[in-house]
Amino acid sequence: MAEHGLDPEDWTAFRAEARRVLDACIDQMEHAADRPWQPVPQAVADRYAIGTGGDIASRLEQEVLPYHGGNIHPRFWGWVQGTGLGSDLIAGMATAALNANLGGRDHGAVYMERAVVDWTRARMGLPEGASGVLTAGTSQATVIAFQAARIRALPFARQTGQAGQRLTAYAGQGVHNATRKALELLGVGAENLRLIPLQDGQMDGAALARMVSEDRAAGALPFLLVGTAGSVDLGLFDDLNALADLAARENLWLHVDGAFGAWTRIAEAPWRDLTDGIGRADSIALDFHKWMYVGYDCGMALLRDEAAHRAAFAARPAYLQGADRGLAGGDPWFCDYGIDLSRGNRALKIWTALEMYGEAAFAAAISDNCRMAALMGDLVTRHPQMALGAPVVSNVCVFSARGDLPREAQSRLNSDIAQTLQENGEAVFSTTLVGDLTLLRAAITNHRTRSEDIHAALAAVARLAGEG
Ligand SMILES: Cc1ncc(COP(=O)(O)O)c(C=O)c1O
Repeated sequence: MAEHGLDPEDWTAFRAEARRVLDACIDQMEHAADRPWQPVPQAVADRYAIGTGGDIASRLEQEVLPYHGGNIHPRFWGWVQGTGLGSDLIAGMATAALNANLGGRDHGAVYMERAVVDWTRARMGLPEGASGVLTAGTSQATVIAFQAARIRALPFARQTGQAGQRLTAYAGQGVHNATRKALELLGVGAENLRLIPLQDGQMDGAALARMVSEDRAAGALPFLLVGTAGSVDLGLFDDLNALADLAARENLWLHVDGAFGAWTRIAEAPWRDLTDGIGRADSIALDFHKWMYVGYDCGMALLRDEAAHRAAFAARPAYLQGADRGLAGGDPWFCDYGIDLSRGNRALKIWTALEMYGEAAFAAAISDNCRMAALMGDLVTRHPQMALGAPVVSNVCVFSARGDLPREAQSRLNSDIAQTLQENGEAVFSTTLVGDLTLLRAAITNHRTRSEDIHAALAAVARLAGEG
């Protein structure tokens, strides 16, 4: 009987094919400006059916690479999406060759993830000994952080659930849905998330204290305060020092959603100041795939108290026992810090990026993105018909193409402009609501954006607004 493996029969042919693919991938990055998003023709989608067959290098080049999600392009500012890095290509090859499982054990990638966690911890100002784990993104990191907060509040909950104890959590209006989702998943319940009104773009501390004491009086156990460093709609930042004081006073776990905004920590002033106090948090959730530009997916949960982190997740059944030597050695194992047992190697792409470009290059790109958002805000303000929807605080600019029209007409026009610019490949804005008004929204987490891109995109908006 023949025995079957899956390695290439002809390594020389494989090498040539892999090199063709690598060249096509480098071309994609080098010429990103000429490759905006485009819709997938049905004939191409049909060819994704398994079993279609054909030369894989040509198919990747012709049927796959052209139909990306748009976020490699210098004029992509929709939602909050990072741009990717050349270093991802290099790291991706090494990641595939290593095929490391980062659940734990004693091998190089585990040491590298520990180093990446430690670098991030120090940048965020958490003390030595704080723990962390790479995740798919901020949504998953939020679940991890909230579970640690929940177990601190109810140490028995891993065994018995909440046993009838109602927990309540607090966040500013405009908090990302990841917070609500995590509370739903953990059985706290979305209704037990109290949304605190904002004052000058920041959570109103007096309203928060009032709600906490009302909830206590009603028999609930307030356990969690979520601060936002970079709100998804408007790029606003809570006063994290004020929240840390409040959390200490009210015995709440302070979590900071810093999905993108946490990275202002390494930017220049004045943007760096937006995250003053972030190091006082009990936990931070952040992404590398947004404002550190690293390829998807890549987030991190950081926790001040390693023991609380472990108490929420550690479990070593017989088949996962550690050892003092051999492959089952080493501590911590990342499976003790999160949801997944088998985990991919996200550390290598961060490490490769930081080693190739250096931290200063990221700091400069992040500061540049804030400057680009400010430039967009200035151009909008100076334009006779456009209107800014909110002050530009960091890297987010929301505006209306025609502030002079009735509100419904503005909303319709802004949505139409966003879609037309996406379809004709000129620029990608997404939209958001401020009150009842749909606005164009740019969240600039794009190291390829230059000021000429901002000028060109706003000229395109003005052109379409004039035609509308
Ligand atoms: C402020 C904020 N929090 C959380 C998230 C969710 O992050 P992820 O998409 O990495 O799960 C986002 C995504 O845009 C965000 O902007």
